[in-house]
Amino acid sequence: MKVGVFIPIGNNGWLLSENAPQYKPSFELNKRITLLAEHYGLDFALSMIKLRGFGGKTEFWDHNLESFTLMAGLAAVTSKIKLFATSASLVLPPAIAARMASTIDSISNGRFGLNLVTGWQRPEYSQMGMWPGDEFFATRYQYLSEYIQVLRDLWGEGKSDFKGSYFQMDDCRLSPRPQAEMKVICAGQSDAGMEFSAKYADYNFCFGKGVNTPRAFAPAAQRLIEATAKTGRHVTSYVLMMVIADETDEAARAKWEHYKAGADQEAISWLGEQGAADKKSGADTNVRQMADPTSAVNINMGTLVGSYASVARMLDEVAEVPGTEGVLLTFDDFVAGVQAFGERIQPLMKSRVDADTPVPSQAGAEAAAV
Ligand SMILES: Cc1cc2nc3c(=O)[nH]c(=O)nc-3n(C[C@H](O)[C@H](O)[C@H](O)COP(=O)(O)O)c2cc1C
Repeated sequence: MKVGVFIPIGNNGWLLSENAPQYKPSFELNKRITLLAEHYGLDFALSMIKLRGFGGKTEFWDHNLESFTLMAGLAAVTSKIKLFATSASLVLPPAIAARMASTIDSISNGRFGLNLVTGWQRPEYSQMGMWPGDEFFATRYQYLSEYIQVLRDLWGEGKSDFKGSYFQMDDCRLSPRPQAEMKVICAGQSDAGMEFSAKYADYNFCFGKGVNTPRAFAPAAQRLIEATAKTGRHVTSYVLMMVIADETDEAARAKWEHYKAGADQEAISWLGEQGAADKKSGADTNVRQMADPTSAVNINMGTLVGSYASVARMLDEVAEVPGTEGVLLTFDDFVAGVQAFGERIQPLMKSRVDADTPVPSQAGAEAAAV
């Protein structure tokens, strides 16, 4: 199974809690985490784009770097790990996104790809006068379909004459084109989002569900299998999971309870309001899951809490879900978490050890982290 890390481009990672590690995002922090991930043979690092935070006592995500520029910096200091930036498609014209991707492809020697998002949180865009109106909730994947066709034209042919409702290209050019095939991620979960992924993306990312229920995302993976059966394309599922691990199950559980006890209710209510704003996309969207108050302390992402051995066993269960190619990990403490993953968890995972994964030394990790 492939393993990636969802690097903390925003403050405090993915824990909305006064009891979780409090930190601001920086290039140095993300470099340290990505170099450690590369050292331990992780397959990729992805950064999100978030343009407006949730506030509250922890100022959750009020502090965020920009995704392309962060990944360009990381491309220059890494050599093996694949890197993905997220394009906020509403505010970044596709011809510019294509050229930035081509530039990072050059910096990274072909290790770069893109996560495409439509945006789901209105204030991120209305604050800069660029929210097209709430009807966009219903049309956002039509918009993204045109966007990706322009990207694919430019990356593939170096030229686009695409004419659609949202984009009209007129002998638009791109050179140099990327040296490697540009892989595209989408994390759509609504019906329109899944259809988009099945038609245009290479990977569909979904939220894991529940605490210590590593297979609970299986219905989302199944929906993707059904959607790709209609398009005949090979698109695989990756699942987002938070790992909270320690020497024993009890010690890990105590950390999780402590984070939950410090939940930042004000930031969580903001998330709830934003999640409810989309009344048009229908069905069970990730966004509604994120805002569900039951475990909103980590936006309800699937959570694996336990000893290193328990987490390794649960990750092996993730790998067994049909249609799943990989997992995208977050941690309560990213530096310690990636190191513990590399030293203690990964060597116990059948889905990693059986693959051709190097088992690097602790001494090398210290060098990588400098
Ligand atoms: C792994 C992952 C990464 C995501 N990254 C972003 C992001 O950077 N910015 C953003 O606005 N939304 C992001 N999302 C939200 C998705 O793009 C998508 O809007 C959401 O999953 C809801 O699905 P839907 O758009 O089909 O309703 C992400 C979701 C997942 C699971």
